[in-house]
Amino acid sequence: MIVLSLFNGMSTGHTALDNVGIKVDKYYSSEIKPSAIKLTQYHYPDTIQLGDITNWKEWNIEWKEIDMVLSGSPCQDLSIAGKRKGLEGERSGLFWIFVDILNHIKELNPDVLFLQENVGSAPKKDVGIMSRALGVYPVRINSSLVTAQMRDRYYWSNIRTRQDGLFGDLITDIPQPKDRKIMFKDIVQGGAVKVDKSVCLVERTIASASYKDLYSDKAQKFLKERESRSMMSSVYQNKSGALLQGDFKMFIKDEDRQDVYLRKRLKNGSQTPPLIYEKNNELRCKTNTKKGYDVITDNDGVDLSYPKSTSRRGRVIKGKSPCLLTENKIYKKEGMKVRTVNKVEMCRLQGFPDDWCDILTKNQAGSLLGDGWTLPIIEHIFSYIGE
Ligand SMILES: C[S@@+](CC[C@H](N)C(=O)[O-])C[C@H]1O[C@@H](n2cnc3c(N)ncnc32)[C@H](O)[C@@H]1O
Repeated sequence: MIVLSLFNGMSTGHTALDNVGIKVDKYYSSEIKPSAIKLTQYHYPDTIQLGDITNWKEWNIEWKEIDMVLSGSPCQDLSIAGKRKGLEGERSGLFWIFVDILNHIKELNPDVLFLQENVGSAPKKDVGIMSRALGVYPVRINSSLVTAQMRDRYYWSNIRTRQDGLFGDLITDIPQPKDRKIMFKDIVQGGAVKVDKSVCLVERTIASASYKDLYSDKAQKFLKERESRSMMSSVYQNKSGALLQGDFKMFIKDEDRQDVYLRKRLKNGSQTPPLIYEKNNELRCKTNTKKGYDVITDNDGVDLSYPKSTSRRGRVIKGKSPCLLTENKIYKKEGMKVRTVNKVEMCRLQGFPDDWCDILTKNQAGSLLGDGWTLPIIEHIFSYIGE
């Protein structure tokens, strides 16, 4: 199959095709983010990089040989997390370039397959406009069926369609995937703070020293020191079995308050509101509910994407992880503290192998995974190709 992947990100389309056994003969990618291009070329060195989509008319490619077009056009202007300029927004407006490209290819190859994804929180009006532009209505699937993450998305595709309703509208006919019942607790790694729990692979970039023995004076001193400064620390094993030290995000204990507040120190020196705090032996998260808080258990994912918002504050997702966005604000309870999910956990939330983003920093990986497609969902959709 010859694929043109627009807004290619981390090449989830390529991985999904491989995983369902469809041979990729040629894979063109249009992408501008350097870390995305780096990861793609690492896993798929034969990928042909075309660069910025706005220059598509200059691309010197065999348009008529393309069998499938993939498009995960940017969703920031459509998403509830963005400012909602809609399809006229600078970023989400790039959707129209995908439509131009698809129409251009259709003239040469009417059977060309396509897949377009966008956020479930997109305004209905924009979903309607996109559907009319593509000639098909989308299927809405939540990644929570196949991963530990709540991620509500629309998928427009002609891979399998049916006609429906009074006017025989064309609908993307991909059935909902079977619920794999994967919970947040199933994908998180245990190893922080207490050394005896600490066998995990995390954040190589922050590892600055190694130990021969977990209980050596040096290793214990490192953990004690960090503990006294209320930093989340761990001693963990890398692939070759060496014990390395690392710190998770830092939270400050305010010892002067009656109840212990945990705040996140911001770059400008100020602190976020105390959204996470300890009271009556419970770890609580301030939420926008009548009760005013939710108790965080070991099973829950916590969303602190909008710490300053008076309407959203924190959110505790029972049993699942909130949606991973480009800036990782998903927290996991660790003892009576919280920490952000690590790189391995972020890969798992999107259904990728643990080491998929090893060559990237945690922030780079978070940015690609948070912006990307959920791998098992795309595999599910592609499993209907040629049916
Ligand atoms: C929502 S993400 C798509 C992710 C992809 N589907 C995946 O699974 O990784 C949108 C991508 O479009 C890229 N992008 C934004 N503007 C672009 C442009 N002008 N040309 C090509 N790619 C662009 C971004 O860098 C980002 O990686």
